[in-house]
Amino acid sequence: MDITQFLLCPSQIQYALRSTLNYFLASTRRANEGHRPQTDFDIDPTTGFVPPEPLPRLPSDYKIWEDALSEAPDVLRLGDDMSDEAKELSSDGEAWRDRIRSRPVLDIQRLKDQPRLLQRAHLVLAWLVQYYVHSLPPTSPPTPKRVPESLAVPLVEVSKVLGIAPIITFADTITWNWVPINPDRPVSIDNMALAHSFSGRDDERHFYQVQAAVELHGTQLLRIIEDYNRIPNLDDFTSIFKVARDLTRLTAIIEEISDLIQSMRSGCDPHIFYWEMRPWFDGSDAGGPSQPGWIYEGVDPHTPELQYLSGPSGGQSTVMHALDLFLDIDHKLQQKRYPSPSAENKRADHGFMDRMRHYMLGKHRAYLDYLEKSPRSIRELAQGTPTLREPYNNAVSALKKLRTLHMRVACLYVVNMSKTANPRSACPVAAMMERQAATMEADARPKKREPIRGTGGNELALLLKAGRDATSRATLKN
Ligand code: HEM
Repeated sequence: MDITQFLLCPSQIQYALRSTLNYFLASTRRANEGHRPQTDFDIDPTTGFVPPEPLPRLPSDYKIWEDALSEAPDVLRLGDDMSDEAKELSSDGEAWRDRIRSRPVLDIQRLKDQPRLLQRAHLVLAWLVQYYVHSLPPTSPPTPKRVPESLAVPLVEVSKVLGIAPIITFADTITWNWVPINPDRPVSIDNMALAHSFSGRDDERHFYQVQAAVELHGTQLLRIIEDYNRIPNLDDFTSIFKVARDLTRLTAIIEEISDLIQSMRSGCDPHIFYWEMRPWFDGSDAGGPSQPGWIYEGVDPHTPELQYLSGPSGGQSTVMHALDLFLDIDHKLQQKRYPSPSAENKRADHGFMDRMRHYMLGKHRAYLDYLEKSPRSIRELAQGTPTLREPYNNAVSALKKLRTLHMRVACLYVVNMSKTANPRSACPVAAMMERQAATMEADARPKKREPIRGTGGNELALLLKAGRDATSRATLKN
């Protein structure tokens, strides 16, 4: 055989090299076309959605806000607290609220070009609003809570610039609510101390810390998403092998997040959560549609931002949304998947997750929109690539398990606790009688009763089950 027939002349070699290079460049371009790095969306490579440094305190022009927040835990108790300590503090609390009402409306112009200061202003004002509203003595019948102009106007202004809801959010309580223990060491969950707490309890610290740990853990997931979106060519064996390996790593990350959620129980007592912490988180719609909401004085009631006045929720965690989008979980029931949604699933609030995006920084919401529009669905890739099907399904199954565990946590902390008596009753005997009455009422519960609501004001059992079932429906069938 004449082997010279297989040898290429220099011009043929040049041609082959050029074609290979062109092919590589074209596929890289295709992959990177429209690709935007995560840093464009205020996502830090090491801390993700958590800012890489603590938020700075506001400049002296805004000292009255910072001072009011420092003072609040010492003088304010929940409005329905009838304990001796609360009674003793009631005139100091009223004086604090008087001062808030009489404060001028500060101009936020000086903060406008400084995102971290705007975030700090949002945090301070949003915490002040919760302190103000929930320390007001209850009225019978309930009347709308009026948020004074001095808080409402700048909070709405700051929120418009940041693109976030004008109320306390997941960011204000979790991702921004920390100071470093040792400023010379990098950001990590062990180096973060809580900046603000409503109850001052260790339980509240633990509650925030677990969720901050989830957010920090999420940076690994963000790296997997970024790598996936940057792979130039998904047709070759090496790329598919990398995607399979990353899906396996993703499954482990989801399992670790599940462990973190489970760890809530070791440091946060459900009774303390439900009665001492949660009432501070309630938003304008916490009582459901039949209860009066809040009025932001000095703000046009048609301002679009005022549609978003629910309390903070894990549903506002950008990490969890990114995970859902990456795995293509269809919360809105827009795709034909099996098994078909149950009647209960159909009744749930399908707009919840979309609405929760408005409680995130505008830039983080933009990242989710960007992910949603990505033409590279990993689910579709796995559907057409037998080697990816199992790793993809394992990740979905881990997320389904996470949601099942989360439902148990929500049941323990909210549903079960809603059947216990309010410990803030006037006297121990009344509290005991109230507890007995609550038990009897639970036993003989009338057929039609108010649904148990999440801080987002929705029927939580329906919502959480629908989320779990939507996750399950992403599973690829053979
Ligand atoms: C004591 C601990 C917790 C309780 C009582 C709890 C309770 C709830 C409730 C009642 C909801 C319904 C929606 C609403 O807020 O109105 C919800 C939603 C949600 N929570 Fe939690 N949660 C807890 C911890 C966590 C943690 C640690 C995470 C992790 C980030 C998390 C993530 C979510 C997500 C992503 C949703 C949206 C619904 C879904 O994706 O299934 N939660 N939670």
